[in-house]
Amino acid sequence: MANVAVIGSQWGDEGKGKIVDWLSSRADVVVRFQGGHNAGHTLVIDGTEYKLHLLPSGIVRGGKLSVIGNGVVVDPWALLKEIEYVRENGIEVTPESLIVAENANLILPMHGAVDRAMEAARGKGSIGTTGRGIGPAYEDKAARRGIRVCDLAEPDLLMTKIEKLLVHHNALLKGLGAETFKAQQVYDSLMQVGDTLLQYAAPVWRRLDEARRSGEKVLFEGAQGVMLDVDHGTYPFVTSSNVVAAQAATGAGVGPRSVGYVLGITKAYTTRVGSGPFPTEQDNEAGTLLGERGHEFGTTTGRKRRCGWFDAAMVRQAIKVAGIDGIALTKLDVLDGFDEIKICTGYKLAGTDIDYLPSSQMAQESVEPVYETIEGWQGTTRGARSWAELPASAVKYVRRIEELIEAPVALLSTSPERDDTILVTDPFLE
Ligand code: IMP
Repeated sequence: MANVAVIGSQWGDEGKGKIVDWLSSRADVVVRFQGGHNAGHTLVIDGTEYKLHLLPSGIVRGGKLSVIGNGVVVDPWALLKEIEYVRENGIEVTPESLIVAENANLILPMHGAVDRAMEAARGKGSIGTTGRGIGPAYEDKAARRGIRVCDLAEPDLLMTKIEKLLVHHNALLKGLGAETFKAQQVYDSLMQVGDTLLQYAAPVWRRLDEARRSGEKVLFEGAQGVMLDVDHGTYPFVTSSNVVAAQAATGAGVGPRSVGYVLGITKAYTTRVGSGPFPTEQDNEAGTLLGERGHEFGTTTGRKRRCGWFDAAMVRQAIKVAGIDGIALTKLDVLDGFDEIKICTGYKLAGTDIDYLPSSQMAQESVEPVYETIEGWQGTTRGARSWAELPASAVKYVRRIEELIEAPVALLSTSPERDDTILVTDPFLE
């Protein structure tokens, strides 16, 4: 039995929630390993919709251990609020069902303030961040001035650390014309939540080693998507963490062989929130139609998502850099009724054909997609549970995608309902 890592293969919002939920019902442990509450996973369970940002999706299913790994940046207030939210929906959260890595870095109020002030200062060149303080918290981690979950148990040292942290952030905030922070205030508000958060603190790596030895099935739940990866994405219009499968090991404290099968979640078309290059974007009727049919509004910020055709060249690249073994293709039903559908197979850059997205910002902005046109279908794919229920052109579309991205479809999702899924390969059995 393999463990499974679930990774977004585009710019996030590929519909990971449903697939992760489907897989988590068969896992013993569900682990978040990067990002923070910038993520938004929507789960529909027995007709009830849950919107999770920071908690692993396994939390809504009883009898699983949910783990927030060291690679996650944790906003204590956001975490406790989300715990309350799921509790209000009758879900029990205890230190037996949720553990948080004691070495995870915290997102503190000045991180959000710096994130938003920096975005305002960038003006037209803004990244379009979620404003949740993700970037500044990861910056502090790399700069070795971050405050971690375990620091909450050492109040004297904590105060010194906050003072040092504010030397950096207050100078920055002052320069940006924003309000500064007082160490005592930050300390007091942290102390108010410290003990509650510490109940969940644990050496996650150790618990995951136990899981490995006792043969428990682990699901590593990625957030965002490969094109938002800080190394492999459309830099600088990316998030601040690595989102590829290799990060599951680093961000949880397990060896690379523990990751197992890597499932890339892939939407049958493309969307992006925030700024940055998007070669197949359709700022026209087709894009509006995709957005309306696909309900393309951000779970975290409510922003309208930019929409466009499927970019096979980009997904192929994501598959290679993230080590994706097979994909779960989602939201095929959104394409129902289009007369024709386009797939980007490569790009033209200054008149030359290329089959990948180069790293340079200028090149990413100027590549022109090369399209192949596929005949659409009039019947519906919505709710299909077998290949036989799909219109022939829809099957052709899926098969062409597989060919172009050089990876098989392991799962096909045909509606937000859990059971509307066509299973080709069981990732846990690979
Ligand atoms: P940050 O992660 O808040 O710093 O935002 C950086 C970029 O990543 C922005 O373009 C965000 O819109 C994007 N982003 C962050 N989290 C998600 C997500 O869960 N889905 C889609 N885009 C995201």
